[in-house]
Amino acid sequence: MMTTVQFIEPISSREGVAQASVLFVDTFGKAPAGVWAAPGRVNLIGEHTDYNAGLCLPIALPHRTFVALRPREDSMVRLVSSMNPDDVTTNDLAGLRARGVEGWSAYPAGVAWALRQAGYDGVQGFDAAFVSCVPLGSGLSSSAAMTCSTALALDDVAGLGFGASDAGRVTLINAAMTAENDMAGASTGGLDQNASMRCTPGHALLLDCRPELTALNNVSQQPFDLAGRGLELLVVDTQAPHQLNDGQYAQRRTTCEQAARILGVRNLRVSADAVAAAQDQRQALAAVLGALPDETMRKRVRHVITEIDRVRQFVDAFARGDIAEAGRLFNASHDSLAKDYEVTVPELDVAVDVARHRGAYGARMTGGGFGGSIIALVDAGRSREVAQAIADEFARQGFHAPRALAAVASASASKEA
Ligand code: GLA
Repeated sequence: MMTTVQFIEPISSREGVAQASVLFVDTFGKAPAGVWAAPGRVNLIGEHTDYNAGLCLPIALPHRTFVALRPREDSMVRLVSSMNPDDVTTNDLAGLRARGVEGWSAYPAGVAWALRQAGYDGVQGFDAAFVSCVPLGSGLSSSAAMTCSTALALDDVAGLGFGASDAGRVTLINAAMTAENDMAGASTGGLDQNASMRCTPGHALLLDCRPELTALNNVSQQPFDLAGRGLELLVVDTQAPHQLNDGQYAQRRTTCEQAARILGVRNLRVSADAVAAAQDQRQALAAVLGALPDETMRKRVRHVITEIDRVRQFVDAFARGDIAEAGRLFNASHDSLAKDYEVTVPELDVAVDVARHRGAYGARMTGGGFGGSIIALVDAGRSREVAQAIADEFARQGFHAPRALAAVASASASKEA
């Protein structure tokens, strides 16, 4: 007998606030100053493009991390999570250096550290209790949900006021990124934090990562009404163990930077735009690749350049209601990540394959890869059946049982109580 695949339901605002508040009071013996929440994300398309100044297209999930928080008079940071309510971690922000905090505490403590490094001295120590329904380590940005909820909470209690506007939130996004890159040592390029802080319900966030752009002109909200088109976006967390994630991710970034240097461009976006503008794009791409010294680098660059183009094509296809084409682009993105960027694992490839055979318009891995989740665009009402087919095939192949969830384009980080 095959087991029924589990769907992870989002916790409501009410439940999240109640659970985080209770955990806070039980742990710290006082009431929190408030409760804030930030979502995980799925990236629809545009993978491994953010650190190449490219385009990506995330939606915020209804699955969020809630933080009940209270500022302290001193510089201590005490943290607890519902995953391990008996384990309270304590760190001092005074004298803290990069990589100075171990384990998951590096994420929230890192945000306060980053804000202080950026000159916001009003950010003090704090006590915080976390409750989350964003599955951990599944490529759905549980870490951004944690850093962004913390950033919004600290902004609020320190009276910085950045959380109130989209442009202001970029300061908090930068602090969240610094926390992840420099305190937790988990390399990230901005996609996840922008998604968690800037997405709006019913829309995908078209994010342009060129560094010369500002918050005022680097995003556009693209209508993404799946239900209105009779569709669902199924997410399947493969639960494949992450393999060498950090080292591999950093390696991909380094290869892209080396390639840009060899091509004499600031970043690979410049080359992507030149190819897109050429009369004969195929020939222009071949010319770029021909200037690179080895096959691995040519494959990585081919992924980045073609992926940036696929984001534009996907936005157009979805807007005109061409779902077959949108699905084809999902498939092409996955195949490029599998063959050229080489960041998939067997679980991701099998899940995508089964989804396609079960009638998905298209399916692809989402996030950094090396484990994590896939997304599949399916007709409304078919998610369960497709998820079950994937679970059955995983059982046959001896993989971990996968978990599923329904992705609906949801809201960004907010104060909940
Ligand atoms: C991870 C990183 C993001 C992005 C994706 C790949 O999620 O945190 O910045 O690079 O991988 O698109």
